[in-house]
Amino acid sequence: MPDDSTAPKRILSGAQPTGQLHLGNYLGAVRNWVSEQRQYDSYFCVVDLHALTVPQEAAELRAATRRTAALYLACGIDPERSTVFVQSHVPAHTELTWLFNCLTPINWLERMIQFKEKAIKLGEEVGIGLFDYPVLQAADILLYEPHLVPVGEDQRQHLELTRDIARRFNDRYGESLRVPEVLIRKEGARVMSLQDGNSKMSKSDPSDLSRLNLLDAPDKLRDKIKRAKSDAVMGLQFDPARPECTNLLTIYQLLSGESPEAVEARFADAGFGRFKPILADLVIEYLRPIRERYDAIAGESGYLEGILREGALRASKVAGLTLERIRARMGLLPPF
Ligand code: AMP
Ligand code: TRP
Repeated sequence: MPDDSTAPKRILSGAQPTGQLHLGNYLGAVRNWVSEQRQYDSYFCVVDLHALTVPQEAAELRAATRRTAALYLACGIDPERSTVFVQSHVPAHTELTWLFNCLTPINWLERMIQFKEKAIKLGEEVGIGLFDYPVLQAADILLYEPHLVPVGEDQRQHLELTRDIARRFNDRYGESLRVPEVLIRKEGARVMSLQDGNSKMSKSDPSDLSRLNLLDAPDKLRDKIKRAKSDAVMGLQFDPARPECTNLLTIYQLLSGESPEAVEARFADAGFGRFKPILADLVIEYLRPIRERYDAIAGESGYLEGILREGALRASKVAGLTLERIRARMGLLPPF
């Protein structure tokens, strides 16, 4: 393991290009990537191969991959500081997945909650890729030997599996892969659906009313917040017994930057009729510059392509070196 203690620590993370990024992705993940890129050597990928684990329409997947990368930039990922790339542009990810497949017990994957949930939804359509999803994720991560992986709460189990695969590799082939730490910032780690305060905001929820997409037009954002599930209790509080109320207040708190106490004090006597339009204004104004930057990036021909080309080159160099070491440890004959 390259251990240069003077080099900046490294982070890596990614999001799937399905649909578009929503406020849960932003508050749970991307917002933290933006703030952390200043102190870490950062890698952010768009995991298009993970998206393929459920049925996708080809043209839509291509469009969503560009959209997701452009949104990373629009949210403030700085390509001068961070390496932004598309997972499938770096073939080392799939090659390492095979090598790790040969190391990973089936019953480790059978325990994955996200697999079980998705498999139930898909019924007969469950492919091997969906089952193998966490091994590909381990490959994404371990290729770059990050110290930290910043994600939302729903990824904790996948990150544990990545750590287990790294340890197993090290046990079997001699210490050589860094075992990364998971970085979950408590605030925003689990933003809930607007329609059900007990399930997370998700790109795959059939109801678009359940999420605030980063690129939704202001009218749409306002309408979704207006129609968000609420309760009839006067006075708003962070209260586990009131999941919808807690979720909307949390969104308000994170976007306004006020303390939870200040937010509760402000809305102690308010009902949702007063609170929702205030929240809508805040969300709309917060997302406005992201939308504007997104439009500028999408409108500048060749800009995104250049960043992704450069990103894939940089990522391939790092990933290639790790893969070479792993291949050698596992006994594959180097090419002549
Ligand atoms: P995904 O959309 O599943 O590719 O997730 C990309 C990132 O966003 C991961 O780090 C997730 O943990 C995070 N994330 C997804 N949904 C939420 C949510 N509702 N609340 C907080 N973080 C989330
Ligand atoms: N499985 C992650 C999610 O759904 C996405 C992901 C794929 C990822 N590879 C990764 C996240 C590597 C962090 C690091 O959110």
